[in-house]
Amino acid sequence: MTDHRPTYDWDPRSDTVLDNPVASFDDMRQRCPVALSEYMGWSVFRHEDVLAVVTDHETFSNQVSQHRSVPNGLDQPEHTPYRTLIEPFFTDQRMALFEPECRDIAAELARAIAGRKQVDIVTELAEPFALQIQCAFLGWPDSLQEPLREWAHENHEATLAGDREAMAEIAQRFSRYIHQLLETRREQGDWAPEDPTTDIMRSTIDGQPIPEEDIVSILRNWTVGEIGTIAASVGLLLKFLAEHPELQAELRDDVDKIPEAV
Ligand code: HEM
Repeated sequence: MTDHRPTYDWDPRSDTVLDNPVASFDDMRQRCPVALSEYMGWSVFRHEDVLAVVTDHETFSNQVSQHRSVPNGLDQPEHTPYRTLIEPFFTDQRMALFEPECRDIAAELARAIAGRKQVDIVTELAEPFALQIQCAFLGWPDSLQEPLREWAHENHEATLAGDREAMAEIAQRFSRYIHQLLETRREQGDWAPEDPTTDIMRSTIDGQPIPEEDIVSILRNWTVGEIGTIAASVGLLLKFLAEHPELQAELRDDVDKIPEAV
């Protein structure tokens, strides 16, 4: 009898990949640039292939789950108005206004670990940085940082385990909290704080208010989804710096080189 089970090209959850994703992706690019895995289906590793996939919405879809995810799980034409809505929140100008606050948060966290011989950089710097800047950006209270950290961790675990039931439960728990937060702002009316959460709540598409579920989905995307991403990128940058003391020295000598290094 023929065995119709697919053969997999790689395992994105293996220790090798999780311990050193960048080197693993470099290796895949050489060895098998279009690869099948049990966990993620098909992955493309070459820049030109990635561009071909993300720009061909006739062939490829963003909808990877039955749960609605705004905007990243939407396809054209539905995706466009949501993306148009979101983009003004991340203009250079708005980011420039927010930058000093991010710098203050980073400096405070760096001061707290300065002089220590050994530090877990992810738990003591990268993750609190991600949590604090996301709460500051959205105008959320500091008391939400701990639940957000837990959601992000649980979501990461559930995603890695492919546990869809747990992922849905975590999303629902988050939704309840955010509905409450939005309700309070609605009750505050004109007194609601002026921040991206109030702005997105009052936004419209084609003159119509945005369904509450979509607002919650956008906010979930900006928080539970992005805390891990920011923390990971800060962690990767710092790991690289720790392994390259000569680069540290070069950047200390000439801080103008930092943006290019980042
Ligand atoms: C270092 C941190 C981050 C990295 C590495 C990152 C990476 C990415 C990537 C690769 C995409 C493209 C996804 C695709 O086309 O399939 C994307 C899209 C996006 N990201 Fe991020 N991101 C980061 C932080 C953030 C943050 C902090 C926010 C919001 C608070 C955010 C909001 C978005 C949005 C709204 C999209 C567009 C989704 C869409 O149009 O469908 N990202 N990000």
